[in-house]
Amino acid sequence: MRVSVCVFILLLIASGLKAEDGSGLWLRNNFASPVNVVGSHKSTIFNVAKQELLNNWQGKENATINLLVKKDKRIIGDGFLLSSDKIQANTDLGILYGVFELLRQQQTHQTVSEKVYNPSYELRLLNHWDNLNSSVERGYAGKSIFWRTGENGLVVTENDKRIWTEYARANASIGINGAAINNVNASPDILRPDRLERVKAIADILRTYGLKLYISINFSSPKIVGGLSDSDPLNPEVINWWKEKVKEIYTLIPDFGGFLVKANSEGQPGPQDYGRTHVDGANMLADAVKPYGGIIMWRAFVYSSEEDDRAKQAYAEFVPFDGQFRENVIVQVKNGPIDFQPREPFNPLFGAMKKTAIMPELQITQEYFGHSTHLVYLAPMWEEFFHSDTHQEGTGSTVARCTDGSIFKHRTAIAGVANTGTDTNWCGHHFAQANWYAYGRMAWNNQLTSDQIADEWIKLTFNPETNVRVALPEDWSVNFLKPIKQVMLESYEASVNYMMPLGFHHIFQASHHYGPGPWWERDGVRKDWTMPYYHNADTIGVGFNRTITGSNAVAQYHEPLKSIYGNLETCPEEFLLWFHHVPWNHKMKNGNTLWDEICYRYDSGVKQVRQFQVVWDKAQPYVDAGRFDAVQRRLRTHAHDAQIWKDACLLYFQEFSRKPIPFDIERPI
Ligand code: GCU
Repeated sequence: MRVSVCVFILLLIASGLKAEDGSGLWLRNNFASPVNVVGSHKSTIFNVAKQELLNNWQGKENATINLLVKKDKRIIGDGFLLSSDKIQANTDLGILYGVFELLRQQQTHQTVSEKVYNPSYELRLLNHWDNLNSSVERGYAGKSIFWRTGENGLVVTENDKRIWTEYARANASIGINGAAINNVNASPDILRPDRLERVKAIADILRTYGLKLYISINFSSPKIVGGLSDSDPLNPEVINWWKEKVKEIYTLIPDFGGFLVKANSEGQPGPQDYGRTHVDGANMLADAVKPYGGIIMWRAFVYSSEEDDRAKQAYAEFVPFDGQFRENVIVQVKNGPIDFQPREPFNPLFGAMKKTAIMPELQITQEYFGHSTHLVYLAPMWEEFFHSDTHQEGTGSTVARCTDGSIFKHRTAIAGVANTGTDTNWCGHHFAQANWYAYGRMAWNNQLTSDQIADEWIKLTFNPETNVRVALPEDWSVNFLKPIKQVMLESYEASVNYMMPLGFHHIFQASHHYGPGPWWERDGVRKDWTMPYYHNADTIGVGFNRTITGSNAVAQYHEPLKSIYGNLETCPEEFLLWFHHVPWNHKMKNGNTLWDEICYRYDSGVKQVRQFQVVWDKAQPYVDAGRFDAVQRRLRTHAHDAQIWKDACLLYFQEFSRKPIPFDIERPI
């Protein structure tokens, strides 16, 4: 008996099967056939590509695959041409991406046909909000995978190297080619020599899978680390300090990517501290990294409490600078004008800054989506964002086309705030892995649908067949793939429903952003950090008036959006309370009053999550016990939380609407 158990365990280890803990992410393949790989380029990445193919080939036994590094004008950047017997690319990295695409098609049972795959964005980054003390800001999956504390915190261990290698491989498999490895609220210490040694060690590993390394910097570093009297970007000593620091970094890391900067935002230092502008700050740094091919990603996430409407401020501050940034500066803009809320209209900066490279910043970590407890697949939200039409250069000027080089010819880039940590399954919730996966896939191709990505991810992550040449079992597709995909696709809208339907935003409990807190305010706290600022409920109605009679934020949108959003009758209902202060008895399109509709939306969100529980319970025969239990447990909390959201918000807003809730309230608390 004992012997057979041992043999079984050995077999599991030998096959690399990582069934129950989720550590294998979507790279769980444990079956390979022999294959001949032809191609003799000599580089680490090329060898890695070859090895991936040899280790994971699932096509015809003893087939021959040609890996060909040869320029072809149909292939752009890290793109590749894939056919059933050949991968051709301009670069070795293109070959690696081609190999991962081929393997993905095999593992998801697709027929490989000849096609060119080019990336939508040249730079596809993760931003880690990892602190040097190993905590992760808005991180819900354990500690930092890059930074450790303690006496030996800076010593690079074999375990560190293993984690960084698996991390790099996972990213390469979905086309991510860069990572900023410390928090945008940056500690100046990142620039001290001992930290830079560790940065170098990380860069050396990420490079093997084609990832470039970037760091976030603190604008006051010349003063704090360098001991200068100030950090004024026009002070020659400061300029020189940065030049020397950059030289030091490039000596350690010759292919270093550049800096990510959060300046004059939420208390962080910046050029305005010295009466200078974003342009002064960004260009000074851009000049320092330019000789080495580096870039500066300068964030546009700025707002101050003095203004009447936070949603207007990034646009107001940045649009006047259009055309003044160096060509190696990319302005990084969050998808919405406030802050990664459950649903926001797109940030009006997209398409408006025509002479500046603009990159979208998405949030993969679920700061405003129930952390790693709620099951929320974010791809539908990103899909909605990419397809939003800015109308800036005529109809069809979608955010995707405004940022991916189709309309404006600047460098293209995209960033996602990572959800990774030291948890065994990397992301806290097994389904949160899907958001990391989806981000990478959409950064590679911003036209992929959330449906297609969910389909791929489920097959790769939960496929019961180790040998893909055996067709997927019919019952698995019908009883698992289909309903689980449906859950994923509905989960985003469900969250919007039970948290912030109809354009509500930022009514979270202050600071942790997990539960509801539409009532939250304190004496002495700046207004835009209190919640009634965002919903403005009174006895007449609710919502933020951003029309011409209010803050007039609608004016930042190009026509016809300005008129559509600005008119209560034409404003899409999902943005109603974002743009309007609406009377409680306003008639909605379905005939309900606003108040009743708010009640029903909250209620339908709760019902949706309960339905997800039912679906998951039925999935038990198709999932290993470890992952089944973990997801089931979280869904239980998720449903309970959804109910709390509904009851708390409805009871609170009822104080203003003074109307009955059209169903029995459950009061779980
Ligand atoms: C949000 C988030 C902060 C973060 C900030 C940013 O406000 O809550 O933790 O630092 O965004 O993106 O800079």
